[in-house]
Amino acid sequence: MATSSRTRIVLLGATGSIGENTLRVIAAHPDKLELVAIAARGQWEKLAAIARNFRVPHVGLFDDDALAAARQSDAFPAGTRFHGGLAGLTDLARLPEADTVLVAVVGTTGLEPSLAALTAGKHLALASKEILVLAGKFVMAAARTRGARLLPVDSEHNAVFQCIEGHATADVSRITLTASGGAFRDWPAERLAQVTVADALKHPNWSMGPKITVDSATLANKGLELIEAQQLFGLRPDQCHAVIHPQSIVHALVGFTDGSTLAQLCPPSMTFPIQHALLHPARAPGVEHPLDFTQLLSLEFRPIDERRFPMLRLAREVMNTGGTAPAIYNAANEVAVAAFLDGRLPFLAIPQIVSNTLSLIPSVEPSSLAEVLAVDADARRASLAQLPAFNV
Ligand SMILES: NC(=O)c1ccc[n+]([C@@H]2O[C@H](COP(=O)([O-])OP(=O)(O)OC[C@H]3O[C@@H](n4cnc5c(N)ncnc54)[C@H](OP(=O)(O)O)[C@@H]3O)[C@@H](O)[C@H]2O)c1
Repeated sequence: MATSSRTRIVLLGATGSIGENTLRVIAAHPDKLELVAIAARGQWEKLAAIARNFRVPHVGLFDDDALAAARQSDAFPAGTRFHGGLAGLTDLARLPEADTVLVAVVGTTGLEPSLAALTAGKHLALASKEILVLAGKFVMAAARTRGARLLPVDSEHNAVFQCIEGHATADVSRITLTASGGAFRDWPAERLAQVTVADALKHPNWSMGPKITVDSATLANKGLELIEAQQLFGLRPDQCHAVIHPQSIVHALVGFTDGSTLAQLCPPSMTFPIQHALLHPARAPGVEHPLDFTQLLSLEFRPIDERRFPMLRLAREVMNTGGTAPAIYNAANEVAVAAFLDGRLPFLAIPQIVSNTLSLIPSVEPSSLAEVLAVDADARRASLAQLPAFNV
C-alpha cells in the first residue's frame, strides 16, 4: 500500500468537528501522516486555510456555488486540483496516491465515497455512523471482498475494536457502549416538551457538530451506534447494549464468554480514537494528556430510561426487525433532526416522526444497494410529508 513511509490521508468533512480533530492529529505526527486531499460541503475559505497550512494538493467541494467561488479565488495554493459534487468526493476517495480515507461527512453523503475507497483497496477510517446504519451489509461486504481495513473512528466502536482485537468473535458474549446521556440526561419527562434548539445543542461532555449533538440529546446517537456496532462486529442484537456513563471516560466494555470484561478508557476527546484509527496498528504519543489515575476519578454506570428516550427503544426494535428497518430509522431521524434544527419541529416530534415512518414503510431484506437507497428515499419522503402536521 504506502510507498512513502507516511500514511497518505484523504479527509472528507475536513471543516467539521471530526475534521478539525483529525487535523490536530495529523499536525502532531508530520513524520507519520500526510494529508493529500480534503473536502467539505461549502466552507471553501476554511478549506483554503487547511490547504495552505498542510500543503494539500486536492480539494473537493460538494456545493457547486462554493466550488465556483473557490476556483475564482486566489486563496488556494497554486496548482490546487479541484473536485466537485458527489462525483468529486468519490474521485478523492479512490485517489491513487492515498492510503487511508477518513469519512467524517455528516449523514449518509459519504456512502458512495466509502464504497469507492474500499473497492479501491484503501483503508477506511469511518466516523459517519449513518453509513453503516444505512448500508452496513454492503459496506462490510465491500471491505471483505477487497481485504480492506475498516477502522471505526466513533469513540465507542473504536473502543470495542481495541478491546476485541486479537479475540475471536465467538468468545465475545456482549458489548456495552457507554452514553453520556446527552443534554437532557437528568431532565424529567415533562420538561422535554419545552426543549429548544439551544438547549439541545448544549452537550455536557463532547463538542461536536449540530446533528450528532441533537442525536445525543434524543439518544438516537446511541441507537445508531448500537446498529453500527452490530454491523461492524457481526453481533446479534441481543449482544449489543448501552448504559449511561456520565463521565464519558469508559467508551465501551466488551464481555467475554469466560466472564471477563475489557474496557477502553481515555479522556472524552475525539483525537484519541482518530489517532488510533490513523496510526493503527502503531501507537504514538497522543496530542492530549492521558488520564491521570493518581487523581480522584469516579466512574458511574446506570441504566437508560427508554421511556424518556424512545429513540433507543426504536433502535432496538429496528435491530430486531433487520432488513431495511435501520435505514428507515436513520432516514426519518435525519429529516426530523434537520427540521428541528431549522425550528420547524418540536423536540418530542423527532421520535414520533421516526416511529410513524417505521409503520408506514415496510422493511424488506435488500438484495442490492439500489434497493436500500430506494427505501431510504421513500422514508425521507414519508418523513417530510409529516412535517406540516407538527409545525411549530
Ligand atoms: N463530532 C464528533 O465528535 C463525532 C463523534 C463520532 C462520530 N461522528 C460522526 O462524524 C460525522 C461528522 O460529524 P461532525 O460532528 O464532525 O459534523 P460537523 O461538525 O457538522 O461537520 C460536518 C462536515 O461534513 C461536511 N459536509 C456536510 N455535508 C456535506 C456534503 N454533502 N458533502 C461534503 N461534505 C459535507 C461539512 O462541510 P461544511 O463545513 O462545508 O458544511 C463538515 O466538514 C457524523 O456522521 C457524526 O455522526 C462525530
